[in-house]
This record gives sequence, structure tokens and C-alpha cells, in this order.
Amino acid sequence: MSFLTLTDVSKSFGDLHAVAGINLSVEKGEFVSLLGPSGCGKTTTLQMIAGFIETTRGRITLDGRDITHTKPNRRGLGIVFQSYALFPHMSVAQNVSFGLEMRGVDKAERNHRVREALALVRLDSLAHRFPRELSGGQRQRVAIARAIVIAPPVLLLDEPMSNLDAKLREDMQFELRAIQRKIGTTTIMVTHDQSEALSISDRVVVMEAGRITQIDTPYRAYERPENRFVSQFIGKANMLAGTVVARDGDAIRIDLGQDLAQTGSIAQLSSRGQGQGHAHGIDVGDAVTLCIRPEKLRLCAPGEGRLSGNVTSRFFLGSQWLYRLDSRVGEMLVCCQNEGNEPFSEGAQVGIDWHADSLRLIAEERAHG
Ligand SMILES: Nc1ncnc2c1ncn2[C@@H]1O[C@H](COP(=O)(O)OP(=O)(O)OP(=O)(O)O)[C@@H](O)[C@H]1O
Ligand SMILES: [Mg+2]
Repeated sequence: MSFLTLTDVSKSFGDLHAVAGINLSVEKGEFVSLLGPSGCGKTTTLQMIAGFIETTRGRITLDGRDITHTKPNRRGLGIVFQSYALFPHMSVAQNVSFGLEMRGVDKAERNHRVREALALVRLDSLAHRFPRELSGGQRQRVAIARAIVIAPPVLLLDEPMSNLDAKLREDMQFELRAIQRKIGTTTIMVTHDQSEALSISDRVVVMEAGRITQIDTPYRAYERPENRFVSQFIGKANMLAGTVVARDGDAIRIDLGQDLAQTGSIAQLSSRGQGQGHAHGIDVGDAVTLCIRPEKLRLCAPGEGRLSGNVTSRFFLGSQWLYRLDSRVGEMLVCCQNEGNEPFSEGAQVGIDWHADSLRLIAEERAHG
């Protein structure tokens, strides 16, 4: 049995189904992220695990115990709330030490562990300050130190790094992952930052409107999104509408529009490795949607490639160039590695090419008819 399980867990606020029957099993030592847009029910889910919000329905177990109705302080979880309330009248060190005092840890041990926790969040020099004397990001790091110092069996983090600058945030992500691996704490982190979720989690749970739409490793969620929502919420995606014109076992030929057929732009898609066999039951004449990531597209000379396009705008991202193109299948986003060469300019005519393997069939968009 998994370490933490949620079975058909739901929360309604009046008519609003904030969380609508979710099932989730988290293994001991796993780092799982809840990812989804604002209002999709991430905090509500985390708060039900913490015990601060009562479930409307469903069951939560921790290490084989039913904790659905256990009081928060009896669950023994470490929590960093979205609004990380620190004790205002206590110094940084006292804030971090508080949980250890409550657990009866002796003074010498307490001091040692507080110092260690503050060093991890790079706040050792501010131990004597009060919360009002700290920046937002510094307060947030005190909240993280306060949660990890008690070495809880489960660490619940709600947007723990939302106030940190990009550099510190990246450092803290590495630190958090390292601490988590070292002490083996089962961690559930809420974030709406997809790159954060992808970079530090063992698995991501993608939520939409109170439901889970996909649970997968970061790599699979990115490379094999199961539906339109996941493909567009995790990373960027070009969606292409097409019609199946031929099918030969695993291989499907898709026409992306009459003009394109003339230019040889019939995409060939192999359904091998398509997870649950999305290509199953697809027939000639079916309308389908394909997804391709911007970095899987390659720009080439006009007349070459599978499609032609016109650069409408470009953005310099440092290591990459992001191009917006106009094409016969609509707007396309293309992301190219910056290899130091002169980029394509706005207004340029280009060819767009890709490997047939890079296309993904989006299952739920499949319409028979
Ligand atoms: N106490 C409450 N009473 C009524 N509605 C609530 C309450 N708490 C949350 N909601 C609603 O439930 C839904 C889910 O809220 P929740 O806080 O879980 O979202 P979230 O995914 O954490 O969003 P964010 O990324 O903005 O923090 C929202 O529509 C919210 O307005
Ligand atoms: Mg929230």
C-alpha cells in the first residue's frame, strides 16, 4: 500500500466543486507536485491532506492509518502555507525552533538543528531578525526552514518559492530536492510554475477544474501529454488539425489540409509508444488533433521542409530564439537553439520541418465521423 493515499477525495464550497473526486497514491520518499492553473483546487487538496479543510467526501490514509478526520496537529506533517504566516513576535531562529520545542527536543539539539536549517535556506546571518525586518523572499525561506527542521514524514509545500527571484529560486529548488533526498521526506508541493514542477518532482499531478487530468513522470507528461489541456499547460504546444487518410497497422497518415497535401505535407505518425495506444480505433476519415512542441520544429530555407511560413515576430531568450510564424495551418511557435548564428528576421519566408516521430496524437480530440 502506498504511503499516502487519497481515495475519491472531494471538497465542495456550496455549489462549487473545488475538488471533485481525486485519487492519488504517493510512495514513501516520493516528491510529487500538484500543478495546474489558478483556482483548480491545488491548495484545497493540500489543505485536506494537512487537515485544515474537511473533506466533503472520500478517504485519506497515511502509512496505513485513516487520517481523514484526524486533527491537523495529530497528523505530524510539515507545512509551508501559501500565505506563510510567521510568528511576528519571534525572531527567525525562534520561529524555526518553535516546532522542535513543541516536540520536546532539548536546547543543544534545537540550536544545532535550527542553525542547520537556516544554513540550508541561506539565512544563517539573519537568525536574530524579526519577520517584519525581512523581505518577502526571506520570510518565505524562514517558512521552509520551519517546516523542514522537524523532519516530518510528509512535507506539504504550497507555492513555497513564489516570492524568490529566479536565481535564488533555482538554488532553492536544488536545495529542496537535495534535502528531500537526504532525509527521504515524502513531499507534496503545489505550484503553478510548470518548469519548477518538471525540474524537481518524481511525478507531476496535473489538475484542471478540481480534477486530475494526468499523473506522470515529468518527462512523460511533457513528451506524452494525454490531452489538449496537459499539452498546453506543460510547455508550449502547436496544435494541428488533420484528417486520417491512410492507416497501415501502427502507421497513420494524416492530411493537414488540401494545400499541404500538394506540397507533400502529409504527416506520418507512428502510434508506437503512444501510451495507452491512442491510435487504437482510429480510422480513415477521422478528424484528429496533433501536437508538436516548438523545439521539435526546425526552420529551413523557403521551399524546403513540410510547411512554409512567415516570421511574424521573434523573441530572444538567451539560449534560444522563439519565433512566431504564420502558416497555412495557423500560427506556429518554433523554438531554436541559439548557436550564435544570425537569427531569421521578422518578415522572413522560411520552411518548417520536423521528424514524424515528434508528432503526438491528442486522444480526447479524436472525433469519429
Ligand atoms: N473557503 C472557500 N469558500 C469558497 N470557495 C473557496 C474557498 N476556498 C477556495 N475556494 C474556491 O475553490 C477553488 C479552488 O481554490 P484553491 O485555493 O484550491 O485553488 P488553487 O489551485 O490553490 O489556486 P491558486 O493557484 O490561485 O492558489 C477556487 O475556485 C476558489 O475560489
Ligand atoms: Mg493555491
